[in-house]
Amino acid sequence: MASSKKRVAILISGRGSNMTAILDAAKASDYPAKIALVLSNKPDAKGLETAANHGIATEVVDHRSFKGDRKVFDAALHKHLTAHRIDLVVLAGFMRILSADFVAKWTDKMLNIHPSLLPSFKGLDTHQRALDTGCRLAGCSVHFVRADMDSGPIIAQAAVPVLDNDTADSLAARILKAEHTIYPHALELVASDKVSVQGMRVRINSDANMLCAHQDQQLIF
Ligand code: GRF
Repeated sequence: MASSKKRVAILISGRGSNMTAILDAAKASDYPAKIALVLSNKPDAKGLETAANHGIATEVVDHRSFKGDRKVFDAALHKHLTAHRIDLVVLAGFMRILSADFVAKWTDKMLNIHPSLLPSFKGLDTHQRALDTGCRLAGCSVHFVRADMDSGPIIAQAAVPVLDNDTADSLAARILKAEHTIYPHALELVASDKVSVQGMRVRINSDANMLCAHQDQQLIF
């Protein structure tokens, strides 16, 4: 019998710790997604090795071979995704801006994680900017991807406290732990069709989406 699991591609550019968290979660027999492909735009991304060690198919689409032609790069990406019969795309530290045409092809089927409580602090240096503006709470967001950078309906967020002695690095490390919790959780909700999108709002049909406080003080929504 054919598996009903959604076929997922994870796109990375670097170390791939969120990818690893998802690969670990996907080992559970009742996880509704199968990671069918890990693709990187950088041949030397550390996460490629980790994925291969997990027995996952890996591919590289090196953006440098496309000489800045974003549309042709995106078309190449799309070709790889369709060749692997991908249902859902997960961006996990994928450091390329995707064209509006590509994003439109994957509306409500492409997720991203961003290390801030969106819509605050889109873009880079989120942790330092949260410190510089005196936030008492920081966090991370998983959202469906839209053409504007770091925008789109939010599926899950985790808030973590900002401590008096935090540096950008210590705050980033605390947020990264929360990322590793919410990304597999958000993908599970989407892959099991428990999520519907109405405008910018995501409705979740699951008891599993309750607020919970973890030992390390993350608040997860
Ligand atoms: C994470 O902080 C993620 O939120 C951001 O890029 C970083 C990727 O880290 N989009 P990793 O490659 O998953 O370890």
